Amino acid sequence: MQRERWVSRRYLIFAAIGSAIGLGNLWRFPYLSYKYGGGAFLIPWMIGLIVIGIPWLMLEFGMGRYFQRSVPGVFEGVGKKWEWVGWWAVFCAFLIDTYYTVVMAWSLYYAGVSLGLPWGVGKAGAAGAKQYFYGTVLGLSSGPDVLGGVQWPLVGLLALTWIAIFLIVFKGAKVIGKVAQWAVIIPWILLVVILVRGLTLPGAVGGLNYYLTPDFAALGNLDVWFAAVSQIAFTLSLGMAGMYAYGSFTAKKADVTNNVFITSFSNCATSFFAGFAVFSIVGFIMQSLAIPVDKVSTSSIGLAFITFPVAISMLPATQGIFGVLFFLCLFLLGLTSAFFLAYGGVISPLMDKFGISRIKATAIVTGTAFLLGLLFTSNGGLYWLDIVDRAVSFYGLLLTGVISTIVVGWIFGAEKLRQHLNETSDIKVGKWFNVVIKVVVPAGLLFVVIYGGLVPDMSKSYGGYPLWASSMIWVILAVTLGLSFIFQRIRTRDPKEVNEK
Ligand code: PHE
Repeated sequence: MQRERWVSRRYLIFAAIGSAIGLGNLWRFPYLSYKYGGGAFLIPWMIGLIVIGIPWLMLEFGMGRYFQRSVPGVFEGVGKKWEWVGWWAVFCAFLIDTYYTVVMAWSLYYAGVSLGLPWGVGKAGAAGAKQYFYGTVLGLSSGPDVLGGVQWPLVGLLALTWIAIFLIVFKGAKVIGKVAQWAVIIPWILLVVILVRGLTLPGAVGGLNYYLTPDFAALGNLDVWFAAVSQIAFTLSLGMAGMYAYGSFTAKKADVTNNVFITSFSNCATSFFAGFAVFSIVGFIMQSLAIPVDKVSTSSIGLAFITFPVAISMLPATQGIFGVLFFLCLFLLGLTSAFFLAYGGVISPLMDKFGISRIKATAIVTGTAFLLGLLFTSNGGLYWLDIVDRAVSFYGLLLTGVISTIVVGWIFGAEKLRQHLNETSDIKVGKWFNVVIKVVVPAGLLFVVIYGGLVPDMSKSYGGYPLWASSMIWVILAVTLGLSFIFQRIRTRDPKEVNEK
């Protein structure tokens, strides 16, 4: 059986850029920059990109292409006893997708209601946006122990999101590439529109000052380095299985290194650019409401679902349209990452291992992910979203990163990978690559896990949740790891033999 292929190189690049550009570019990067040294944050972030992100992405693409399989197959190829490493990443990718799509469902909800501005117009809207999100949309309960019922509109929109993902991926890489191209270009255009609107608002410059004024003293702070490295790993969608599969859909003669550079720089440029859009809006709110920056939510869910709605209410004109455009942009930013996780991260590995048809694997994965996602549409869902996120998109992503770079670097051989990359790539990778893969990347990621994760999480309960709830982080990691070993043990009539290089 011939391995599936991208129709052209362009589609691979758009699919990879699409997976990298996601919610994080808009709601994580600008905030980190503001918090950790303004413009000076660009320095650790670029260092993280060059020293950790790019070599790690070369590894994932390169190994996928070398073995022509998705991640479990890659690690099985390195040695039979390593297959679990791949499965662990697969399970983490699957769990991320169960809640990432819920955030997309919220975006659809807001895109739908924005024209009517149900949280209020003008100052009333500014006051009502928070209550609208937590109260009306989420129906948020008092804590993780009170699940309550599901929010039916969100269930409907979540179903819609998964149907969209199903339709995009069930024909494989060919259609994925074509959709990705538009799902990248349209949000780019929308970001420009949002930026122009933002910059022409009163107070914009004040916001940009917070985003960009450099504080070089911050570079002496370990927190800043922690933030830079973890953001690079997250933003390039590394450690989440899918990039191996995306690499495996390229022919043996295709260039890898160049694609990696194009993908990572386009992604990072998008983050930098999105920061202008976000902070011009933040500045506008500060000025209109005469409040200091720390009273404005500048990151994550608060930024998207409270700060932006506040800004929308306060706009002098075009409020509703602006809201629709912003939330559609958010949905599309999420979409390419969501189908990347679903297809590259889970469906392709299942097809490789079990030899099931694409449509069957797609139905199983989208169906179960939807069902699990119902948890996050419940009244206690937001708390669980936060806890599961910490488990898989922080610990899972970084730990699979540490283990996989060590296994590839020391057991498969960084030198062998380097030669494989150089065989077909325009840009030749020097011997520095070996040291980086074997030592620098795993050490950097381990620092992040320990310094930014274990130290704070062990000293006080994560997120201030009751201990039983925050302990679920470790339960989730243990269960996914256990399942990975079980999957490694399952022997199948191997469709992979046919794909053998
Ligand atoms: N890179 C995506 C973002 O920045 C997040 C993501 C992480 C997507 C891991 C897929 C896998 O939002």
